[in-house]
Amino acid sequence: MSQEKPRILVLIGGISKDSINKKLFGFFRDEAKDAFEFDEFDIKSLPFFSQDIEADPPAVAADFKERVKACRGVLLITPEYNRSFPGVLKNALDWGSRPYGQNLWSGKRAGIIGTSPGAIGTFGAQNQMRQIMNFLNLQTMNQPEFYFKFPSELENGKLPGSANDFLKSYIAKFKEWMDKA
Ligand SMILES: Cc1cc2nc3c(=O)[nH]c(=O)nc-3n(C[C@H](O)[C@H](O)[C@H](O)COP(=O)(O)O)c2cc1C
Repeated sequence: MSQEKPRILVLIGGISKDSINKKLFGFFRDEAKDAFEFDEFDIKSLPFFSQDIEADPPAVAADFKERVKACRGVLLITPEYNRSFPGVLKNALDWGSRPYGQNLWSGKRAGIIGTSPGAIGTFGAQNQMRQIMNFLNLQTMNQPEFYFKFPSELENGKLPGSANDFLKSYIAKFKEWMDKA
């Protein structure tokens, strides 16, 4: 097993400047920076996927595909949009899956987390995303699940203690999962 830190490709479905899912990743990164090397890809830079351009993709999509190839695993961080996950994340998953027969996700280990201000904390989004991840043959960690209602107030810019404990316990399990890759 490699002693190097596993490289994790990070895709965040919240693309607004004040995205709470970006904030969640900030907390995740702070807690996990010694365990992983993170490669955060700005998925809004990808054009809409089209079969017209899949064989000779634009540079940004070609770069994305190289970064999918280079990662040990993937961390998907999703907001919930209308009980599903945002199209910008589906677009990124589609780019990595094509051309037909060249699905770059196949066999990669993955984690999925997300946050919303709503009570179910992205369950609807993650539930739908898992269906697509299964089809893409991503090996997604099943447990623990990470549904997270974003706190209405942070404590000096940090997550409240119990929420941070929850995050840390997820990270510990995700590290075990990635170490097996
Ligand atoms: C188009 C749209 C649909 C939404 N649908 C849901 C939803 O189904 N469930 C939910 O909890 N929040 C929903 N929200 C609220 C989002 O959870 C909230 O805007 C959140 O801040 C989005 O994540 P982000 O800040 O990381 O972009 C929706 C927001 C938008 C813009």
